[in-house]
Amino acid sequence: MNDRGTQLGWSPEEPTARGVANAVSRAIREGTLQPGEKLPPIRTVAATLKLSPTTVSAGWSLLARSGSIQTNGRRGTTVAEFRQGSGRYRRAMDQRGLFTQDLSTGVPDARLLPDLGPAMQTLTTAATPGGYLDEPEVPELIEVLRQDWPYRAEEMIITDGALDALEMVTRARIRFGDRVVVEHPSFPLLIDQLETAGAEIVGAPVDGQGMQPGPLAEALRTPATAVWLQPRAHNPTGASMTPERAGELAGIISGSGALAVEDDSAGAVASSPSVSLGQWIPEQTVHVRSFSKSHGPDLRLAAMSGPSSIMGDISARRQLGQGWSSRLLQRILLALLTGEAPRQQVADARDEYQRRRQAVVSELAAHGIEVGRPDGINIWVPVMDESAAIVRLASQGIGVTPGAPFSVLPDKSGHIRVTVGAASDSHAELAAMIASAARAGGWTGGR
Ligand SMILES: Cc1ncc(COP(=O)(O)O)c(C=O)c1O
Repeated sequence: MNDRGTQLGWSPEEPTARGVANAVSRAIREGTLQPGEKLPPIRTVAATLKLSPTTVSAGWSLLARSGSIQTNGRRGTTVAEFRQGSGRYRRAMDQRGLFTQDLSTGVPDARLLPDLGPAMQTLTTAATPGGYLDEPEVPELIEVLRQDWPYRAEEMIITDGALDALEMVTRARIRFGDRVVVEHPSFPLLIDQLETAGAEIVGAPVDGQGMQPGPLAEALRTPATAVWLQPRAHNPTGASMTPERAGELAGIISGSGALAVEDDSAGAVASSPSVSLGQWIPEQTVHVRSFSKSHGPDLRLAAMSGPSSIMGDISARRQLGQGWSSRLLQRILLALLTGEAPRQQVADARDEYQRRRQAVVSELAAHGIEVGRPDGINIWVPVMDESAAIVRLASQGIGVTPGAPFSVLPDKSGHIRVTVGAASDSHAELAAMIASAARAGGWTGGR
């Protein structure tokens, strides 16, 4: 474009986001920019090239999505060493092996999922025309979902699971370098998605009722684009928000202009009631409910609500690709949500998860290990030494997940996540093994 670009070592041929992205990609390919090399701040690049910061930021987004560059909080933006996010999820699940009892999975017990047979029989060819021009959502399903949705949402769409929904929100609203406040700890895949989009992740700690208001208010002193929240059965801690906490967080986010993005991944297997900041700030809330834990991960469905402006952008973009989530699957979900037998099976599963969870939690308390009052299928156990705890449990045939990939802020104590929802019996023995693993590596017990 001009020789101002030579100060950077690369120069766009056209003054557009794509021009910026192409020039940086070329510089990486040719070795002018090296893996790990730090790029100057967006404002500096914009001033040097006499472009707007928005154009440079959009160019950075294109590069981040292609895996060419990555952002890492205060360390800034660097040329990528490897291609996708930081691979937290891979690290978390890497430890999986052949265990007698694998409690590392974070997935529901297949034996507690509702029977699909009768729901499949409700399908007829007439009910599923499945044309490209049909409504993307089955209207009766939306109607049923609205009946127990936690707030009056402007629009609702059906997606291929919660992660698909969150990925679409990220693409629609998060630009490279945007600050996004997330819970500490948080589910690694959520962090991977945001990091891949080039977001600057800001952690705010969770207590027994969800994200803490003080740290959130502090984080929002500097403008942020969005706040990522898990309203119920937070993965990994199991915390569920009370309505009071939700109201408090809504009050803080309200004035900041940030978007609250809620991932209700446990859905109907959570024992606590559905809750959303949308009750207070519907125009700033996107709420996602997954049916993976309650109705099966391979049904691959979630519902997402939000203001028309955001849902409209997402649907328009989706038209360019997949277009809609299979209406055949939507009809199966409708039958599962309305049939008496599947409704009972899901309610029984919720009670059974509660029984399993409480059995392990109270046994752990008897061993002096407190994990709060978790909801859902996971518990988050403080341990002296993560590796020692994992190795000890593995030697006893039990698989658990290391805590480090869930950490957004430094974790002083170390943790393991245990999917107690998969443990149908022998809870006292399991708790005793977890308790001694928690002390492995030097903890002498008590405080
Ligand atoms: C917090 C969180 N979000 C999303 C998901 C995945 O949801 P889905 O299967 O609907 O994509 C999980 C799965 O464990 C999860 O724990």
